[in-house]
Amino acid sequence: MGRLVVVSNRLADPRKPAAGGLAVALGEALNNTGGLWFGWSGHIAEPAPEGSAPNEAQTHVQQAGDVKLATIDLSRADYDAYYLGYANRVLWPVFHYRLDLADFNPNYLSGYQRVNRLFAQKLMPLLNDDDVVWVHDYHLIPLAAELRALGSRHRIGFFLHIPFPPPLVMAALPGHEVMLRALFAYDLVGLQSEADLAHFSRYVQNEGGARPLGDDLYLAFNRTLRARAVPIGIDVGEFERLAQSRDSRETFEHMRQEYAQRRLLLGVDRLDYSKGLPQRIRAFKELLVNYPEHRKSATLIQIASPSREDVDAYTDIRRELEGLCGEINGDYGELDWMPVRYIHRTVARKRLPGLCRVSSVALVTPLRDGMNLVAKEYVAAQDPADPGVLVLSRFAGAAEQLRDALLVNPYDIQGTAQAIQRALQMSHEERCNRHAVLLDNVRKYDVHWWCTTFLQYLQEVPRHA
Ligand code: G6P
Repeated sequence: MGRLVVVSNRLADPRKPAAGGLAVALGEALNNTGGLWFGWSGHIAEPAPEGSAPNEAQTHVQQAGDVKLATIDLSRADYDAYYLGYANRVLWPVFHYRLDLADFNPNYLSGYQRVNRLFAQKLMPLLNDDDVVWVHDYHLIPLAAELRALGSRHRIGFFLHIPFPPPLVMAALPGHEVMLRALFAYDLVGLQSEADLAHFSRYVQNEGGARPLGDDLYLAFNRTLRARAVPIGIDVGEFERLAQSRDSRETFEHMRQEYAQRRLLLGVDRLDYSKGLPQRIRAFKELLVNYPEHRKSATLIQIASPSREDVDAYTDIRRELEGLCGEINGDYGELDWMPVRYIHRTVARKRLPGLCRVSSVALVTPLRDGMNLVAKEYVAAQDPADPGVLVLSRFAGAAEQLRDALLVNPYDIQGTAQAIQRALQMSHEERCNRHAVLLDNVRKYDVHWWCTTFLQYLQEVPRHA
C-alpha cells in the first residue's frame, strides 16, 4: 500500500496519552507508512485588519514521530457555517433521526461546501500519486468530490462514524442530491452497522438510481462505489494498560471504599440529545419507585461531558437533564444518600477503567448512536471473575455485536427500569457467562481489526475505467 493519508475534522497527536484508542490506531496505521494526517487545527483564524485582504488559510505542518500532522485554521464565518451550522445543526440531527432539531439554513450548506473545497485545495498539493486517502465522518462528505475536481485519481475511502438514516429521512435533507453524488466520488464507504448499510444501500438505489453490481458494489453517476459495514472497536491493549495505571487503580480503590455500602451504576456520555439522558434518569427514578429496596443503596454516577455548547439544542438538553437530576435528588435523596451524582465535566481518560470496573451496571442507552465505544470500554474494564452488567440500547450500533448485553428500548422507561433491576439482581454465573461472550467480541473486533479491514477493503475495490 502507498502512503496513508487520513483526513478528519479534528485530529490528535497519536503520541499523546490522552489521544484515545482511535487516534492511537490511526497513528499506528499512519506510522507504518510514514503517513499524513490532515484536518482542522481547532483554531479560528484572527480576522485580517480592516481594509486589508482576507487572510489566506495557512497549512501548519508538524512532525509527530513518523507521522506528519497538517492543519488549517478556519475563519469565524467558516467555523460558524460549516461546523456549528451544517455539521452540528443539520447533519448531526438528521443522521440521528431528529429532523425536528435540524435548522436548514441555506448559508450552512454553502459554508460546508466552501470548507470542504478549502480542505481539498490545501490537501491536494501535499498528496503523492500513490497515496491512499481515508476521510472520516460527516463533516467531510463532499471532500472526495472536491479532490476529484482538482484531478485526484487516488483511492479514497470514507468512514461514517455516526448512523446513516433511513432513505426518506435522508431525502428530507435539502440538497441531499449533492451529498448523494458526492458519495460516489469515493471508492469505498464504510458504515458502523448492517442496519446503516441497509439504509445506505436503499438510499443510493431509491434516490440515486444506483445499480447494484453484486459484491457490495453500486454503479451511479458513471462511478462505482463499494459500501460495507466495518464496525469500529476499541484498542483493548491500550485500555488494559490504562486500567493498570496508578490513576485508574486509585480511582477504583477510592470509589470502592467510598461506596462500600452501595451499588454503583455508571453513565459516561457527551452531553448530547442523542444519548437518551433524560430517559435514562427517568428509568432510574422508575427503578426507585418500583423497587424501593434500591433506595439508599443504588447510586447512578452520570458523567455528561460538555459538548457543542454554542448550539441551542445542547443548551436545552442540559437544562432538561439538570432539572431531572435536581428533581430526583430532591424527591428521593436522604442526608446520607443522593440517587444521582451528575458531573458536567470531562473525566480524565486514565480514570475511566477504574470507574467502569467499580460499577455494577453500565447504562449505555442512547436513542440513536453510530457505535458507542463506552459500551465496549465498560466490557474491557471488567474483572472477568466478577464482571458488571451492561445495559445497552438496541439503537446503538454496538447492539448488533454485543447481543449478550441486556438490550433495551430507551424510549420504554418501564422496560428499561426492569432491565436495570434484572442487571442488579443477575446471578454471578450469568454475569460471567454474558461477559465472556461480550469480551470475546470486543477483543476480536477491536480498533486494529477495524483499521486493517477498512484499508484492505479499500485496496480491493475494482477501479473504474
Ligand atoms: C462524534 C463524532 C466525531 C466528533 C465527536 C465529538 O463522536 O462522530 O466526529 O469528533 O462526536 O464532537 P465534536 O463536535 O466536539 O468534534
